[in-house]
Amino acid sequence: MLQKSILVTLFVLFSNLADAAQPVRDATRGELLYSTHCIACHSAQVHWRNKRLATDWISLRTEVYRWQKFSGLGWGDDDVAAVARYLNALHYHYPVPD
Ligand code: HEC
Repeated sequence: MLQKSILVTLFVLFSNLADAAQPVRDATRGELLYSTHCIACHSAQVHWRNKRLATDWISLRTEVYRWQKFSGLGWGDDDVAAVARYLNALHYHYPVPD
């Protein structure tokens, strides 16, 4: 009983924290998804080589979409955008349209 209410309290606490951190949440989610599903087969090098495939925001999103599909992850638009934003912030720095 006590354990259950502690769990509930923790849950409420953490969901409030997550709400407060809304703008950061996207990047964090993108980072989490990328480091879980993608990083295994490429080093950061693939994102800053000269002949990169992602040459702007649209092609970056397209690459992320292509790779999650290749890995059979079934990501929705939100997940694809979150990972693309994460990679963009980290490596590409392309302008992102609204
Ligand atoms: C099976 C191994 C593998 C997995 C898994 C993988 N990638 Fe890749 N990725 C590659 C290789 C190899 C390339 C280079 C492809 C080329 O040059 O045609 C690449 C290229 C890319 C590029 C383009 C880099 C550039 O600018 O040229 C992006 C973006 C990318 N991957 C994102 C992802 C994401 C997001 C995931 C997870 C959903 C992922 N990849 C999972 C192997 C992988």
